[in-house]
Amino acid sequence: MYKIAVAGTGYVGLVAGVCFAEVGHQVTCVDIDEKKVDVMKSGVSPIFEAGLEELMQKNYVAGRIDYTTDYKSAYKDADAIFIGVGTPEQPDGSANLSYIATVARQIAENIEKDCLVVVKSTVPVGTNDKVEQFINDFLVNDVKVEVASNPEFLAQGSAVHDTLHAERIIIGTESKWAEGILKQIYEPFGLPIVSVNRRSAEMIKYASNDFLALKISYMNDIANLCELVGADIQDVAKGMSFDQRIGSKFLNAGIGYGGSCFPKDTKALEYLAKQNGYELKTVKAAIEVNTEQKTKLFSKARKRLITFSGLKVAVLGLTFKPGTDDLREAASLENVPLLLEQGANIYAFDPVGAKNFARVYPEGTNGRGSITYVENIEEALDGANVCFVFTEWGEVKALTPETYKKLMWTPLVYDGRNIYDVGEMEEAGVEYYSIGRKPALREGKKESRNIGLQTVKS
Ligand code: UDX
Repeated sequence: MYKIAVAGTGYVGLVAGVCFAEVGHQVTCVDIDEKKVDVMKSGVSPIFEAGLEELMQKNYVAGRIDYTTDYKSAYKDADAIFIGVGTPEQPDGSANLSYIATVARQIAENIEKDCLVVVKSTVPVGTNDKVEQFINDFLVNDVKVEVASNPEFLAQGSAVHDTLHAERIIIGTESKWAEGILKQIYEPFGLPIVSVNRRSAEMIKYASNDFLALKISYMNDIANLCELVGADIQDVAKGMSFDQRIGSKFLNAGIGYGGSCFPKDTKALEYLAKQNGYELKTVKAAIEVNTEQKTKLFSKARKRLITFSGLKVAVLGLTFKPGTDDLREAASLENVPLLLEQGANIYAFDPVGAKNFARVYPEGTNGRGSITYVENIEEALDGANVCFVFTEWGEVKALTPETYKKLMWTPLVYDGRNIYDVGEMEEAGVEYYSIGRKPALREGKKESRNIGLQTVKS
């Protein structure tokens, strides 16, 4: 059993802390936000994450985890301190390391015994060296401190599962002492451990995330070509997936990747390459494809409709993927302002993300358009002129083509997640557009009404 302190209680820090407690370590989670600490102490998770609250409560009652703003007492006698604070993207694409620096200094000024500092946050290659130097520069007591890299690979929505059943644990160390401690901390998880040097560990994180981002952008690129040549991206993906060298995961074309990692980590790696006089052409291309992909459906719809002014537009899904209330880099954030600018009356549905979205776009009139948040999908679809699907929530996937046909004034659906069957939508009489698949009804086909000239059904 190790005495562990975790700095930062976001997705990375909190989930790591809770899982360390779950396998028997003594954990103190540190956050500067007092309100958040009180919430966590009461057994409530500040983030929406399956299974997290149960483990928080269980381990809190068992006395294995606590939450505090008092970093001094949390750090002073910890065997290991994990840093899981944010490294947000700066306008030039580089990572902002100021939160890491603040924690590093607090550690240096307060540790009273030998301690391993473990950086879990995603940081540019070479940062761990700097953090170690920084801590040693500010060290107050005569103790040994070393920094190790231990990147996190959890995906939001399945964070607890991904941590307890990770496919691999990457540890990057520069001494047997550090390697030994990390191996022992992770030993109770019973998972494969890959032990490398610090810089390689830092690179593994970026290379892994950017590879997946590239994979998605590649499929989106191919999907766009499929549309032009009459192929179907889902059939293409299926055919590709049987090749085990390719694999079946992350082959879904759609409205582009979002979230807190892929967009940030692709830009950060491109920036790192540039800083080193190298052009990372593959990653650069992935970023470009993704940026264009996010508004592809909007552009298509705009051509089809002439204008959105006065139209009721149903928006299904606001978060960057299902299973999370996180909106970071979500396609909705690109499309909603475009729709509002065009005078659309948006009726938005999202089972968990609406509250966060309303902070950015409060309900009511917005510019030429307006936005209303609804609690059930039917309200969004009822009398709508056009519908956009941005997130593949279960309840959105469960909608039948007949529901669209019955509820919408004109059943015109733009699906950014390829969740419905093209043939079934067509049969039900829905004019359906998705990504990389043949449109059900050809643009401008006679039987579809010219909704550009209609107003909202009252
Ligand atoms: C990702 C990585 O999966 C994780 O290992 C890393 O630690 C953090 O970044 P996350 O951002 O939570 O996790 O979500 P993920 O499930 O990977 O999806 C990212 C984005 O890619 C989402 O917007 C998703 O909709 C999109 N995506 C994913 C696709 O468009 N197509 C796919 O085939 C898979």
